[in-house]
Amino acid sequence: MSRLEPDSSPLSPDPRTPAWGPESWQSKEALQQPNYPDADALARTVREISSLPPLVTSWEVESLKTQLGKAAQGEAFLLQGGDCAESFEECDSGRIAAKLKILLQMSLILVHGTRKRVIRVGRIAGQYAKPRSSDVESRGDVTLPTYRGDLVNRIGFTKEDRTPDPQLLLRGYERAALTLNFVRALADGGFADLHHPEYWKLDFIRHSALAAEYERIVESIQESVRFMEAVADIRLGALGRVDFYTSHEGLSLLYEQAQTREVPHRDGWYNLSTHLPWVGMRTAQTGGAHVEYFRGIRNPIAVKIGPGMSPEWLTELIDVLHPNDEPGRLSLIVRLGAGNVRQHLPTFVDTVARTGKTVLWVCDPMHGNTETTTDGIKTRNFDKILAEIEESFAVHRELGSYLGGIHFEMTGEDVTECVGGARGLSAEDLKRDYRSQVDPRLNYEQALEMSMLVARGLRSNGD
Ligand code: PEP
Ligand code: CO
Repeated sequence: MSRLEPDSSPLSPDPRTPAWGPESWQSKEALQQPNYPDADALARTVREISSLPPLVTSWEVESLKTQLGKAAQGEAFLLQGGDCAESFEECDSGRIAAKLKILLQMSLILVHGTRKRVIRVGRIAGQYAKPRSSDVESRGDVTLPTYRGDLVNRIGFTKEDRTPDPQLLLRGYERAALTLNFVRALADGGFADLHHPEYWKLDFIRHSALAAEYERIVESIQESVRFMEAVADIRLGALGRVDFYTSHEGLSLLYEQAQTREVPHRDGWYNLSTHLPWVGMRTAQTGGAHVEYFRGIRNPIAVKIGPGMSPEWLTELIDVLHPNDEPGRLSLIVRLGAGNVRQHLPTFVDTVARTGKTVLWVCDPMHGNTETTTDGIKTRNFDKILAEIEESFAVHRELGSYLGGIHFEMTGEDVTECVGGARGLSAEDLKRDYRSQVDPRLNYEQALEMSMLVARGLRSNGD
């Protein structure tokens, strides 16, 4: 390196900021943290998790960062998705396999649309903690702490259920390990047979005006598999190893801290509970504990941003979290709501451009599009979700920036939580099989259809 070049080492100490450690966040204000009544039990549990093996490795984390760096440059595409919140009770083989299957199938469809490598990241194996708008919930004259996810307390409405329990941090770590163990086994074992996309549950497509086009996509995927096998003289199913990465909102800082480790032969600290932790906007204050924690880890990280994000705030966040412009380090997951993209996204893109740094732009078309039916059921409309994605692609295209990923809440099952889609789920249908305790998810068919429509839009726009 010539002496005139700035030192781009991501580890060069920044003289403006005091020393960082996995616990340095504790001196800052930490929002959205539960009040554990038993501090000793909490400390014991955190110590115990700290001594248990990590869930992911630093080389996986680095490999994901490299791939996200490519996505930020327009050379790859991120598909991130899964439950709004995982639950301990639903940690079973069928559900985990279904989540992987839908993520894999969507990724193949997006490969078809983007003609780019698609990076698969689940909201999985640790998405157990939720930010809440209120600390307490009242029913009649009873007021109790709010449910903050299975990592913190239980959903039942009793004092015992709602009292934050440190043991649940340990249960969460264990459930995440069990989930990841099965994900790794499936990913290694060629479970998702690319040779038979005709087995994909595509009945719903008959209801859609796009039926012929969907069939062409499926045929073309089959053809590509045959072609690649012929060229490479291998059976892709047997080759089998598909990459899946994990992500969750890094909300419960003691949980994250307990899995933050130094590793041999690499500098710095890694959060080894997940590959890609993200910060929600509710906890993204630049002087706050979450940003303090996130600034020091070497993982690729993401920040959710919505309409309330100001240029000043965003600039500060980039300054603190992305000081060295390391490729793949920072993704911005934008969640604005259909119809709001044109108003806000150009300011975000301009703000980032002014910093001179590169980020990966991701669209979360779910969280700005939550609505309530007349029966009081929380839902999202398929068409609005699609509209936000399309608006985001269009605005980035116009601005000469690149939308490099989409973030979905979805499930591999046949739930009825979002309205619309080829089957035309109505507000009435939501009562049939609504399972989410938190946000409504696209079901298997809706998720598959969504990815087909996105792929179609991309191809017709020549992206
Ligand atoms: C979420 O991703 O489930 C979530 C709470 O999103 P947001 O912070 O963007 O509202
Ligand atoms: Co959600």
